[in-house]
Amino acid sequence: MTKVSVIGAGNVGATCADVLAQRGVANTVVLVDIKQNFAEGKALDIWQTAPVNMYDTRVIGSTNDYSKTADSEVVVITSGLPRKPGMTRDDLISTNAKIVESVTKQVIEHSPNAIIIVVSNPLDVMTYCAFLTAKMDPSRVFGMAGVLDTARYRAFLAEELDVSPRDIQAMLLGGHGDTMVPLPRYTTVGGIPVTELIAEDKLNAIIDRTKKGGGEIVNLLGTSAWYAPGASAAQMVESIVRNQKRILPVCAWLQGEYGLKDIYMGVPVKLGKNGIEQIIELKLNKAEMDMVNQSAVAVKEVMSVLDNQLVK
Ligand code: NAI
Ligand code: 2OP
Repeated sequence: MTKVSVIGAGNVGATCADVLAQRGVANTVVLVDIKQNFAEGKALDIWQTAPVNMYDTRVIGSTNDYSKTADSEVVVITSGLPRKPGMTRDDLISTNAKIVESVTKQVIEHSPNAIIIVVSNPLDVMTYCAFLTAKMDPSRVFGMAGVLDTARYRAFLAEELDVSPRDIQAMLLGGHGDTMVPLPRYTTVGGIPVTELIAEDKLNAIIDRTKKGGGEIVNLLGTSAWYAPGASAAQMVESIVRNQKRILPVCAWLQGEYGLKDIYMGVPVKLGKNGIEQIIELKLNKAEMDMVNQSAVAVKEVMSVLDNQLVK
């Protein structure tokens, strides 16, 4: 019996639970929220789609009762405030760190062997916060951002090239912010290098749009995205639960890879039943490595905000 729990039954959490249920990834999906009856209501609504969407996954909700999450194989943490217009991801740090810390403690109390996927923003630093709190092997505590960021990049490319998004493969490194590093040299369309199919200025415009992809949606909706983020987190859960060993960009704890140490940042990994089973080091050229280093500086700056808060 596979159980997956999703903490935070808001836009991203509920979408993630819905995608997990529709794909039959787990026997039980537990939604938890601090807001009275909110997770129960969302779970009931999702569960009532089962006869229509033809799945068996039982979706249940709970107001802050973590005993319902006991023995989860994977836990997705989405609790926290979303970004509002004009707000940077970093503005969210102190509020969301307190939420992520308290949630992580309750999660591991009931599921000490769970694999934890953090979604709350600022992503790289909230993942670091969960890692510090859980005190688990970092192969079992990591964050979702790169799957979403590459999904945006792939969707923009599919639109520009008028091809199926399924045929676009791409990799992206760095933090979940404007310094992320989409990699055209590691982007292909049906196996063809993307640079053979698109003019340089158009590709650069797509890379720029990808970097600002979260903000574009915030400006349109007045709050941040949820369909693609929820589906992206669900894809990571699926790769773990089904031991698919997918190669995906994941926010992982680096210990020397890419010349970086003690930092959570997006890199390609193999995701299987043990969580991160391998971190893949690409052979980057100098320009790519410079961008990765710039992104690392930006991530480290926000990590140090959290470190300083913890010291006080
Ligand atoms: P939302 O406001 O719709 O949902 C958040 C939920 O968390 C709310 O229902 C709230 O009651 C709940 N919550 C707050 N404190 C809690 C606690 N202590 N315990 C349990 N539940 C608690 O927000 P949304 O849109 O679902 O976004 C969630 C988070 O995910 C935000 O931090 C957002 O910035 C982040 N995000 C990250 C992305 C990524 O790529 N990593 C993409 C999109 C959003
Ligand atoms: C996003 O990229 C806000 O991090 C969130 O949509």
